[in-house]
Amino acid sequence: MHINISPSKTEVAKSFSDYLEEQIKKNKTTHIALSGGSTPKVVFDYMAEHYKDVDWSTVHLYWGDERCVPPTDSESNYKMTVEHLLSKITIPKDNIHRVHGEDLPELEAERYSKVLEEELPIVNNIPQFDLVILGMGDDGHTASIFPHEIELWDSKNTCEVAVHPDSGQRRITITGKLINNAKIVAFLVTGSSKAEKVRTIITKEEGHDNYPASLVVPTSGDLIWFLDEEAAAQIN
Ligand code: 6PG
Repeated sequence: MHINISPSKTEVAKSFSDYLEEQIKKNKTTHIALSGGSTPKVVFDYMAEHYKDVDWSTVHLYWGDERCVPPTDSESNYKMTVEHLLSKITIPKDNIHRVHGEDLPELEAERYSKVLEEELPIVNNIPQFDLVILGMGDDGHTASIFPHEIELWDSKNTCEVAVHPDSGQRRITITGKLINNAKIVAFLVTGSSKAEKVRTIITKEEGHDNYPASLVVPTSGDLIWFLDEEAAAQIN
């Protein structure tokens, strides 16, 4: 595990964007699972502005989780990505594999798991992402696996339907077997509200395994936390 601490959210975006660019340049094709949340938004803005010469035609984009809403809804992770990245770069339409949040969740979870099986290389009998980008909620959730449904992590399926604990909003999420089979997993976590969970999870305090984010242990060993100083305040 590597921990990369930057002074601010913008610096996290810069440092992660540099890392991402390196990965994209290194691979012939790069399959990336994106996440929702506020930190990726800043990363997307940064990349759209500063990384004009990235060859996006070699990149395939997927979502680690999506809210069950139409792609035009302000809650849609896909919509956020279009606004902050996709509308500003040149990438073939066929390289964008969105979750159909507007469809019946159970059927969509099944359909999306088939998309992943068809598009990604199969390694250890499981589709393999080159990079999974994750956020972490204040409650220790990651992707859309929340503490009250932590059992979804161990699902035999690669995609499941989850429910947000407060709003009841349904979500499609990828599960533990897919996340831990990725070549690289990167957490993007910023802000002081994350500091306590970051400490509990990274230092493996008692009870850490009640938080889905602590179950992220890629078999490749390649796990990187990109943190700002606020989120890292209790591990320094
Ligand atoms: C989502 C997410 C979710 C997010 C965390 C952190 O769609 O809501 O993918 O898992 O990454 O809630 O979000 P912030 O970066 O906004 O704290």
